[in-house]
Amino acid sequence: MKIAIIGAGYVGLVSGACFSEFGVEVTCVDKDEERIRGLRDGICPIYEPGLDNLICSNTVSGRLRFSVDLKSAVADADIVFIAVGTPSRRGDGYADLTFVYSAAAEIAEALDGYTVVVTKSTVPVGTGREIKRIVYEIADEDTIDVVSNPEFLREGAAINDFMHPDRVVIGAETERALMMLRELYRPLFLSDTPIVETDLETAELIKYAANTFLATKITFINEFADLCERIGANIQDVSKGIGLDGRIGGKFLHAGPGYGGSCFPKDTLALVKTAESANSPVRIVETVVDINEKRKINMAHKIIGACGGSVSEKTLAVLGLTFKPNTDDMRDSPSLAIIPELQAKGVANVRAYDPQGMKEAMNLFQNVEFCSGPYEAMVDADALIILTEWNEFRSLDIGRVRSLLRSPVIVDLRNIYDPINMKDAGFVYFSIGRAPILQPGS
Ligand code: UDX
Repeated sequence: MKIAIIGAGYVGLVSGACFSEFGVEVTCVDKDEERIRGLRDGICPIYEPGLDNLICSNTVSGRLRFSVDLKSAVADADIVFIAVGTPSRRGDGYADLTFVYSAAAEIAEALDGYTVVVTKSTVPVGTGREIKRIVYEIADEDTIDVVSNPEFLREGAAINDFMHPDRVVIGAETERALMMLRELYRPLFLSDTPIVETDLETAELIKYAANTFLATKITFINEFADLCERIGANIQDVSKGIGLDGRIGGKFLHAGPGYGGSCFPKDTLALVKTAESANSPVRIVETVVDINEKRKINMAHKIIGACGGSVSEKTLAVLGLTFKPNTDDMRDSPSLAIIPELQAKGVANVRAYDPQGMKEAMNLFQNVEFCSGPYEAMVDADALIILTEWNEFRSLDIGRVRSLLRSPVIVDLRNIYDPINMKDAGFVYFSIGRAPILQPGS
């Protein structure tokens, strides 16, 4: 079987590399010539653990190719995936489908023989139907079927998520298309991965339902964390206490500074718009979007409170800038809201360090001093702020931290340290949903 993947971005590259690992012949197509040249030379344009090795080994074996030539890749393929970007449209929050629809038209013009066109990009409900309309204006109905096959992979764990998914969702309308997708996913069928076979609209909605549900779960626990701080309860024990209930489950119950990344913020917003347009508003998701936006700013104010009510003329050491660990992705990271708010409130210096995100962060922040390691960021800082839970921040040399900081204040927005240990080490330590443990006299 041969497949083409249009769009060599995050989802396209991970899917392409993993399908080729399954033994399928894959061509990843992108308009960006520099990106394709780099990929041919083994340069992976994104940071994702394990992806560069997978690309290398499958390129060497000849199963994975990269091209700017959509026409011949599509003509050769049995299945074509659309994995182009669907950014939030500026101003109104709707997903921008320009790239999806133009890819669909180009595919219809280029195909040679029966081809299944599959959307892997997260697209609003109704997009598959519109793609069908576009392609049937160009190609004969017997030569093309449209399928929705949403992707659920998480950045930082994408290869494992692709190879061992909780489920595969296939929205198809003909038996012929379904058979092709079943054949493609045969390695996963063999490992007993549940496959949900449904129609186009339902498959599209499943993806939004999953992401908005998870965003809601996080927002729920974040609000409970605030409540814990007020009443002197412990959010980690609350998460454990409810997560052990099989009906709730323990995952996605870590309180923090609010969700970010390339999916949750964009998808929650797009779902709100879809539901509004369908005259069936999903108020719970509207509220989640609102709470999460405000939460990031509230986090800046929490930091200001921890610094005695003012950050004016102060120096802050910030560890972690990406929206989560094991990625270089800065999209909608809480740091992008928190740091500018602190600067607006008069902070003199922000000294930041992130293991992978600094290259991108340099384009996004103003007046931030980027440091080469966590300890360098702490020199003479008035407080240490932990924004992202990278592993290397979990076991800092606490004595060294104490000696570098001008005052012993830590604000840990990911709860990676134990409040009692921090108090014993002489810190005034603030975290999320756990009452601050203050030093006597502080
Ligand atoms: C998410 C979905 O998990 C994935 O299925 C979908 O395909 C794409 O969107 P991703 O954005 O890579 O994946 O990251 P994820 O690990 O889900 O985290 C998203 C955000 O939620 C991060 O900002 C993270 O810090 C935050 N989060 C996650 C929490 O604050 N608490 C949690 O318990 C879990």
